Amino acid sequence: MNRGNSAAAFLDAHPEYASTSALDRLRASGYRRLDAHGEVYLDYTGAGLHADTQIRAHADLLNDAVFGNPHSASPTSAGMTRLVEQARQAVLAWFNATGYTAVFTQNATAALKHVGESYPFARGGSLLLTADNHNSVNGIREFACAGGATVGYAPLTTPELRIDRERLRDLLARADPTARNLFAYPAQSNFSGVRHPLELVDEAHAAGWDVLLDAAAFVPTSRLDLSVVQPEFVAISFYKMFGYPTGVGCLLVRTAALATLRRPWFAGGTVNFATVEGRRHILAPGEAGFEDGTLNYLAIPAVEIGLRHLASIGMETISTRVRCLTEWLLSQLLELRHSNGRHMVRIYGPVTTAARGGTVTMNFYDPEGHLIDYRRVEELAGKDRISLRTGCFCNPGAGEAAEGLTEDDVAAAMRESPDMTMPRFLQFITHRDGKSAGAIRVSLGLASNFADVDRFIRFAAGLRDQTRLTVGEVTFDIESCRVIRDGS
Ligand SMILES: Cc1ncc(COP(=O)(O)O)c(C=O)c1O
Repeated sequence: MNRGNSAAAFLDAHPEYASTSALDRLRASGYRRLDAHGEVYLDYTGAGLHADTQIRAHADLLNDAVFGNPHSASPTSAGMTRLVEQARQAVLAWFNATGYTAVFTQNATAALKHVGESYPFARGGSLLLTADNHNSVNGIREFACAGGATVGYAPLTTPELRIDRERLRDLLARADPTARNLFAYPAQSNFSGVRHPLELVDEAHAAGWDVLLDAAAFVPTSRLDLSVVQPEFVAISFYKMFGYPTGVGCLLVRTAALATLRRPWFAGGTVNFATVEGRRHILAPGEAGFEDGTLNYLAIPAVEIGLRHLASIGMETISTRVRCLTEWLLSQLLELRHSNGRHMVRIYGPVTTAARGGTVTMNFYDPEGHLIDYRRVEELAGKDRISLRTGCFCNPGAGEAAEGLTEDDVAAAMRESPDMTMPRFLQFITHRDGKSAGAIRVSLGLASNFADVDRFIRFAAGLRDQTRLTVGEVTFDIESCRVIRDGS
């Protein structure tokens, strides 16, 4: 396609994009720094971006009053407590979370860790994960093993990288429904963008499982309504939803499930009573029992400001925009071919927008079908001020499934280097059999526009007929994990 006409072709293909024009106006005002600096930001799954109005509203709030550490009786403390509790109510209302408790945490990882360390894993019980999970969910298996529970993984189908529903059904049916069983999966993959079905929550419940839904990558572009789907536990990070504040996440827990968690320790702020002489403590009820020490209290009011920002745009508008742009991105990448007719790009996961979000993961290949090193692609993109992400994105299982990596591959790599690191593993796998365990991820969000996507497609088209060597081979020192010579 003549790229000069691409904007018109895009609008022709996606007339509904016009309904999201409020986001173009917002981009020109609240996100003007993007274009002022010529930045093409394509890592919304890594972090959302804030609008300048969010920062101003937060600064005004902090500068107009005096705030002390919350949860005591002084006026400055009481004012802060009021704002923290107001933010908590705003979060519960946003997710329509009647019957849930909102525990503020540092991030989604801390929310997931709360569940891991407090869930009553025991012999006879189970933890079931999906191969598509962030490492902050995979890590829960250590708590489950320590408690004596069995740990299983539901596999993915290829090439779509969706949960294998039949295998999942089998695995769910194997649990002893009288024991405590936890099924943990992501509502949206941070690797492939696949949206795993929310109906799995009911399916797991029916088979006697509690459910931990990792919603970190889902909620920035989709509405999660907890009156419709009711997992016991939901983990989120707010900076992924609206960019600011960082350092605040949330665990939403069904209040009945909260009572079954067993905290392995206590801390300042989490107890109603603790004695040294008596060696006893009584945990505070509700969220207080899980909010260790002093909350990030000055940042928490910015969560309510962020939610108001999303509400002012409308989640439907954000979803529509991201879907149109993702559809275009996928279709244009699939069209890219070298002069010899070979495809230039391999996309991991679904190539349509059905049940998938705005995260697109790929690798580039040269005209002979050789993999182009993703680190080199990242470097070249950086020179064009395109920010994307490469590697395995803390989600090793999805990449392993996509490339068909086996336990034997991993064992061979571990034999080669017992103190294995992820970059070293990726290098080993590529050198040994031309597979890639790493990839390039582009993700879209509320401030994305057509120009961002078009810039990336032009960049990708620039790799046409480049060979692995002409594009500049990256030489990687397997011992130091460093790029030691850039062949460009
Ligand atoms: C699906 C998913 N879960 C969990 C996390 C962890 O989030 P955080 O690093 O904010 O704790 C991420 C971060 O990328 C994610 O994408």
